[in-house]
This record gives sequence, structure tokens and C-alpha cells, in this order.
Amino acid sequence: MSRIAYVNGQYVPLADATVPIEDRGYQLADGVYEVIAVRGGVPIDLAPHLRRLDQSLSALHMAPPMGERALRVILRTVTARNRLVEGILYVQISRGVARREHAFPPSSVRPSLVVTARTQALAPESMFEKGVAVITDADLRWKRCDIKSIALLPNVLGKQGARERNAFETWLLAPDKTVTEGTSSNAWIVTGRGQVITRPLSHAILGGITRSRTLEVAHRLGLKVVEHPFTLEEARRAAEAFLTSTTAFILPVVRLDGKQIGDGWPGAITRRLRAAYLSALAGGGVAGW
Ligand SMILES: Cc1ncc(COP(=O)(O)O)c(C=O)c1O
Repeated sequence: MSRIAYVNGQYVPLADATVPIEDRGYQLADGVYEVIAVRGGVPIDLAPHLRRLDQSLSALHMAPPMGERALRVILRTVTARNRLVEGILYVQISRGVARREHAFPPSSVRPSLVVTARTQALAPESMFEKGVAVITDADLRWKRCDIKSIALLPNVLGKQGARERNAFETWLLAPDKTVTEGTSSNAWIVTGRGQVITRPLSHAILGGITRSRTLEVAHRLGLKVVEHPFTLEEARRAAEAFLTSTTAFILPVVRLDGKQIGDGWPGAITRRLRAAYLSALAGGGVAGW
């Protein structure tokens, strides 16, 4: 079965799906996106993803291409047409097709909307059991990382750096040597005293949907949670570390820049958080159309 994409009003085989070369997403990275996990054929946390999409659009003074109800119909249709059971929905909105010029095009130019679906295993258990390695590098990004913009070049370079050093992710360092976040995930540590720490929301990080779910779960478990920046040094000395994202859920980090964190295995608090997160998913508590 060939994959089906939605492109500006039409459902087409992925191989035939195209946008004009003067699409502002293509030429200027003038657009935003969302990645939504699908499990059991149902999206996880659709409402907060759509809310964040709206926030990204309004931060860029971009009009949504349609109302939320119509967008939900498209997401459902793409899920169904691709028989997507486990994987991701990708939604991208750009400022549309216009003669290349930095300033906004006339308001008659309609935004472009593309939705694709991909089957993939979410948060494979094997990765969780062993944990993953993370490296660090300078955070080269702009000053509005809270916007889920398609301009991802520093993230691309960071992720490639990780791959070349056999790591899963790169944690990005601000000039003051605090960790902002990963190239496609939020960063967390657990201190020897069991304090769970992640950076507070600001323009320096993306407000991860999984991050906010993890905070809820941590509070529910009665863990001590602090939203505060942590330094590279604190991360090195941490008892546990983990990352969160739509596709990885909660993933233990067991090596940082080649050195073991804690005893080099997924920590007890990370395991508890992950188990509680998964049971919330199974209970339908965080899922839904
Ligand atoms: C830079 C960045 N931070 C954090 C995240 C995690 O966000 P979420 O949990 O919503 O997937 C992502 C996800 O792609 C990301 O790109």
C-alpha cells in the first residue's frame, strides 16, 4: 500500500506529493510544524499539539489555513488512509507560495498545509532497557526556540554530531553552560537526593508536550520536581538523567559525553516515571481525537 499525503486540499500518493518551488517553507523556512504520535490508531495528546501549533502560527503572524475541526478531519483521514496504527503524523504549515521576498506576501496568498503519516515503532523497549548516550554542544539556535519553526539547521547539525559519535541526542549548552534542551527532546536530571530537574519554560526551549505530561506524572507520583536550569556539571554529577519527546516518551540517558551517569543504567525514578506515563497512555488518559 502506498503512503498517502494531504497537500493543500488533496490526498495524493506520497511519491506524487509536491509543493511549488516558491513555497516560502522551501525557500525561507517560513513555516511551523507539529509531530504527533499515534498509538492504537489514535493520536496522543492531539489537543495540546494543536494548541501549540496555533501558538507557533500566531508568534509568526501567520493565519491558520483552516479551523481546528477541519484540520482534525484531515488528520483522521490521513491516519485512516495510511492505516496508521503506530507511528507519527507530521503537520507542516508554511506562509504559502509567492515571489521570493523576505517580507510577508499579500494577504491573498493562502498558507500551505501538508500532512503526512509514517509507521514507526515509538519508544522501542530495547532502547529504554539500556538507555541512550548523549553528547553536548553549543546551542547555536535563535532566541525564539519556543516556536516550533521548520528552520531546524542547528538541530540538524546537532543531531548529526550525535550520530557521528554513536549517541542518540545532543544536549545544547547556553553560554552560561546550562543545558537548554536536546535537538528534538527536552532534557532532565535527577539528583542524588531524588530531585527531578528540568529547565523552566522560556523562549530558550520548546515547551514539549511530553515534558508537560511528565511533569504531571511526576507530581502525581509525589516526586520532588524543580523547574530550574541545570548546568553541564550538575548533569555530570546527576544520579539519573532522561529525555522526553513525542516519539521517545521518557528515555533514560546513561552516558553524557562518553562518561557514565550514575551507575550507567536507567535509574529507578526514570523507570517509575516511564511506567506511570505508559500506564496513563494505556488508560487513554492522554490520548484522543
Ligand atoms: C527542540 C525540541 N525540544 C523538545 C522537543 C520535545 O517536544 P514534544 O514532547 O512535544 O515532542 C522537540 C520535539 O520535536 C524539539 O524539537
